[in-house]
Amino acid sequence: MTEPGLTLVRIQAAQVGHLDLNVVDGKFGILPDLPAVPGTNACGVVVASDTHTEGSLVRISGKGVGLRRDGGWADHALVPDAAALAVPEGTDPALACSFFSPAGTAWAAVHTVAAIRPGERVLVTGAAGAVGALTVQVAARAGAEVIGVVGRSAKLGRVPASAKSVLAAELSPEAVGGTVDAVIDTVGGPVLRNALGLVRPRGRVALVGYTAGRELTVDLADFLLAEVSLLPVNLMTRGREVAADADRMLAELVAGEITLPIERYGLDQLAEAVERLRTGEAVGKVALELT
Ligand SMILES: NC(=O)c1ccc[n+]([C@@H]2O[C@H](COP(=O)([O-])OP(=O)(O)OC[C@H]3O[C@@H](n4cnc5c(N)ncnc54)[C@H](OP(=O)(O)O)[C@@H]3O)[C@@H](O)[C@H]2O)c1
Repeated sequence: MTEPGLTLVRIQAAQVGHLDLNVVDGKFGILPDLPAVPGTNACGVVVASDTHTEGSLVRISGKGVGLRRDGGWADHALVPDAAALAVPEGTDPALACSFFSPAGTAWAAVHTVAAIRPGERVLVTGAAGAVGALTVQVAARAGAEVIGVVGRSAKLGRVPASAKSVLAAELSPEAVGGTVDAVIDTVGGPVLRNALGLVRPRGRVALVGYTAGRELTVDLADFLLAEVSLLPVNLMTRGREVAADADRMLAELVAGEITLPIERYGLDQLAEAVERLRTGEAVGKVALELT
């Protein structure tokens, strides 16, 4: 028995994400009272609930989980019923707790915000990262010619094969074969500034993240002349819009039609998992496995 409105979940996997690090560092707008258990996204089996079937697989996300209330970096989580979302039985728990944000964000960035059309040339930064790798694949499937940018040479070979890969330090019109119609940027900072100069007049830049720096200085005279639109992507306001697309992408991930790399760690390796994400060395998503 649980309190009405709450579901008890035995956690099998929990995501270690940038949002979790921002919360742990006290750098997010919503912070928990301490002591607190972080973990905004996790997946596990329902132990007790008035709403969800006992023994069914759910992912937990939203409704303040890992923010205002304890999250998924633990063996059990007690969450509002509405924060537990059914996932197909047999889904890899690490994938189930990891796919929604990169899939939904990639879909919104490509189709809604940047509105990529077949034949366009699209530059994706952080292209070996979770959002970046899926963005490359979604843009390529939309018929774009994709160039994937990475910060370290070790990741050149980790960009999905549907893109040509380029080092951020070597970004130039020659390296990317001229101008691009759009940039989808997951990195920010100086990488974004350099990428802006490669966009054709009246092209678009969709801003997703700022792992490499949260500030951008632009010369306003050049910016006006270039007529490039800077367009924010915010999954928090677009989650419902893209939910069906993200769920379809989960099925495609399970079928191996698209890929999302996941680094897996035990709960006792939490410090290593955090460090890999914090330093940018991780490739794709980082997940804790508790089974
Ligand atoms: N707007 C939204 O709604 C939304 C949704 C989801 C995620 N995000 C944000 O989008 C960004 C990317 O998310 P993600 O899940 O794709 O992250 P990720 O897998 O960790 O990829 C981020 C990439 O940033 C690059 N990077 C450069 N400097 C870094 C540094 N100092 N620390 C860490 N990474 C660094 C790394 O690529 P290189 O090694 O190639 O430089 C890394 O692959 C994050 O800021 C995340 O918070 C935003």
